[in-house]
Amino acid sequence: MDVVDNYRFKISGHEFVPIVIGGMGVDISTPELAAVACRLGGIGHISDAMSPFVCDKRYRTHFTQYKEKENREYKDSTDKKNVKFNLEHLYQAQRTLVEKAMQKKEGSGAIFLNVMEKLNMADALGTLATRLRAALDAGIDGITLSAGLHTHSMRLISDHKRLKDAMIGIIVSSVRALKIFLRSASRAGRLPDYIIVEGPLAGGHLGFGADWKKFSLKKIVEEVLEFLKSQELKIPVIPAGGIFSGKDAVEFLKSGASAVQVATRFTVTKESGLPYDAKQKYFKAREEDVIVSQTSPTGYPIRMLKNSPCLNSTIRPQCEAFGYNLSNDGKCPYIDAYWKAQANGSSNPVTDKMCLCYHFSKGNCYTCGHYVYRLKETSKKAPDGTYLLPDAEEVFKDYQFGAA
Ligand SMILES: Cc1cc2nc3c(=O)[nH]c(=O)nc-3n(C[C@H](O)[C@H](O)[C@H](O)COP(=O)(O)O)c2cc1C
Repeated sequence: MDVVDNYRFKISGHEFVPIVIGGMGVDISTPELAAVACRLGGIGHISDAMSPFVCDKRYRTHFTQYKEKENREYKDSTDKKNVKFNLEHLYQAQRTLVEKAMQKKEGSGAIFLNVMEKLNMADALGTLATRLRAALDAGIDGITLSAGLHTHSMRLISDHKRLKDAMIGIIVSSVRALKIFLRSASRAGRLPDYIIVEGPLAGGHLGFGADWKKFSLKKIVEEVLEFLKSQELKIPVIPAGGIFSGKDAVEFLKSGASAVQVATRFTVTKESGLPYDAKQKYFKAREEDVIVSQTSPTGYPIRMLKNSPCLNSTIRPQCEAFGYNLSNDGKCPYIDAYWKAQANGSSNPVTDKMCLCYHFSKGNCYTCGHYVYRLKETSKKAPDGTYLLPDAEEVFKDYQFGAA
C-alpha cells in the first residue's frame, strides 16, 4: 500500500516527512500545533497575522492597548491616514512571537512563519520589512510568503545575514502569479526554496475571483510543474487545498509534488487556537453551510461557515487599536461600508463588508476549507452530542500512515 510515509522531501538539504501544516491566522495555527508537526518530522507554520495582538494575548504584552491610546484622537473620524503602527513595537511583538514558538521546537522537522502581504498595516513596505526581519532575527526556520505577489519581499531582506540560510517559499494560485514573483525574486538574487500551490478549495482567503469553481488544484499543479521544468528550475512544489486524507496526498506525491500542505483537518485539534465552540461548529457543518464570501476588506474572497458571527454585524471600525487592513493612506473598505450602513440607521447591520480585525480577534470568522463538512467523519461523538477533539499527532499520523 502506498502511503505518505513512503516519501520524503528536501528543502535546501533538510529532509522532511512531506506534510506541511499551513499557516492559519489569527493564532489558529498555534506554536503548539506547529511544534507537533516539527516533532513528527514535518513542517508546522505559525502565522504573523495581527502579531502584536497575538503577542498581547499569549504573553501579556500591551502593544494593542498602547496603539489604541496613541491613536485615540482619530476614533470619531472617518479619516484614518494618521493611524499608524509603531514599527519598534511591531518588531518586538513579532520577535517575541517567533522566539517563543522556536523555544517549543523539538524533533527533526521545522517551524515556518506565514507572512501575509495583503495586510498593509497602514505602511505596506515598512511593516512588511519589519515583520520579515524580526522573524529572521528571532531564528525562524522558514518563511512562507502568502496573500499577495510579494514583488518586494526578497528585496526587503536582501541584505539580511539569514537570507540564504532561512528557507523561503511563496504561495501562488497560478503560473502567472509565480512568474511575477520569480522575476522580482531573481532581481533580488534570491529564488524561492519551495512553492506552495494553493487551489480553490482551501481555507482562509483565496487567490481566485468569484469564478473559483472553474479552477482545479490538480490542473494548476501540473501547469506549475511543467513551467518549472521548462525553465530547468528544481524547486519543490507543495499542493494545498482540499487534501483531506493520506490517500489524497499520495495522489499528488505520485504525480510529482514534493509534499502537501493541509490545514482544515487540524482546525479542530486540541492544539488549534480556534475557540472550542467554533470547533464544534466546524464538526457540525454541512456542505450547504460553507460559503465563499466577498465580505473580506482585503479584496480577496474568503471561505467560511455561513453562521459566522462576523457576517452582518454592526461593530464600529477598530482601526485605532488594530488597523491591520489599512492602506498607506488610511483606507479600509469596511470603514466606508460601516458609515454607509450608519447613514441608513444606527442599528443597521453592515452587509457588504466585515471588520476583519475585530472579528478575527474574537474568533468570529469561521474560515475553513471546502471539506470542513467531512470533519465529522473523523471524530466520535460524546454522549452529550459534542464531538471529541483529536490530538494533532493523531491527525498528522492519519495523513502519514493512512491508506484511506
Ligand atoms: C482556519 C484557516 C485559516 C487560514 N488562514 C490562513 C492565513 O492566515 N494565511 C494563509 O496563507 N493561509 C491561510 N489558510 C490556508 C491554509 O494555510 C492552507 O493552505 C489551506 O487551507 C489548505 O487546505 P485545507 O484546509 O483544505 O487542508 C487558512 C486555512 C484555514 C482552514
